[in-house]
Amino acid sequence: MRLVVTGRDGQVAASLLEAGQAHAGVEVVAIGRPELDLARPETVIDAIVVAKPDIVVSAAAYTAVDQAEDEPDLAFAVNATGAGKVAEAAARLGVPIIHLSTDYVFDGSASRPYIETDATAPLGVYGASKLAGEQAVAAAGPRHLILRTAWVYSPFGRNFVKTMLRLAADRDEISVVADQWGNPTSALDIADAILHAAAMLHGDKDFDAFGVYHLAGTGETNWSGFARHILDTSQASGGPWADVRDIATKDYPTKARRPANSRLSSAKFAAVFGWGAPEWRESTKRVVRRILDRP
Ligand SMILES: NC(=O)c1ccc[n+]([C@@H]2O[C@H](COP(=O)([O-])OP(=O)(O)OC[C@H]3O[C@@H](n4cnc5c(N)ncnc54)[C@H](OP(=O)(O)O)[C@@H]3O)[C@@H](O)[C@H]2O)c1
Repeated sequence: MRLVVTGRDGQVAASLLEAGQAHAGVEVVAIGRPELDLARPETVIDAIVVAKPDIVVSAAAYTAVDQAEDEPDLAFAVNATGAGKVAEAAARLGVPIIHLSTDYVFDGSASRPYIETDATAPLGVYGASKLAGEQAVAAAGPRHLILRTAWVYSPFGRNFVKTMLRLAADRDEISVVADQWGNPTSALDIADAILHAAAMLHGDKDFDAFGVYHLAGTGETNWSGFARHILDTSQASGGPWADVRDIATKDYPTKARRPANSRLSSAKFAAVFGWGAPEWRESTKRVVRRILDRP
């Protein structure tokens, strides 16, 4: 089974490349800029067709949530038009596509974890562009899995875990928002879930449970709870530690508004694919130790 993933150095793409090496019979190939540039739709179809996928994994995206407020055209070009082209390439080749989307398609007003059929209402440009991408992917062909994930971190790229460890190296105290709730999700787990789902799609030509799924870490916390766990794990491994001070979102102004509740229920994914993510603290420990190089 040959998976072609977009976004060579992205957290999910890098995790998938690594996971593919550990699975016999699985080949993962990553394609990215310059040969595949989602902002230049004319590059997309050829780049995917020549890579000869059995399954396309669409993980590349414009992910700068605040910057997107100043660059809506680019965010939509990449996340909506570009994603649609990736799905068009998959449809042209007659292969399924697994497309990554986000918790930020919701406004966070729900008082429980979001399920797939809940109404979307993005608060910012990034979420709106990703929602338009979901629609473009769905319009390109029926054989799609749209996986909405959240709060992604990994040993690769830039993410919250690395930021906390970096700040703790030269500060005694870090202020972190305590009124946004969600599910920290390791890209290593996302990669595992994608390989699991891909094997089912590939092995069962009659698979017909295509559509939207939520896929996030098990259990929930807020950003300051996440930060504390990262730093306590780091300290236990001999790494940097700092005190975490709870603050409110209103005390940490950002260009883009974020949902107060972006918890996702991954029950549908677990029921259909028989796969659930580890508890978020376990996955976080694994990644912190890897970043610190203290297994
Ligand atoms: N990170 C999160 O917390 C989070 C949360 C929910 C959902 N998601 C979704 O999950 C998916 C994977 O996220 P991630 O954290 O792995 O992303 P990431 O680490 O930010 O990586 C994004 C990747 O997209 C590539 N990219 C950006 N613009 C591109 C373009 N014009 N053409 C081709 N490639 C381009 C980047 O390439 P360069 O290396 O060349 O810049 C990079 O490899 C995305 O769809 C994202 O929207 C992420």
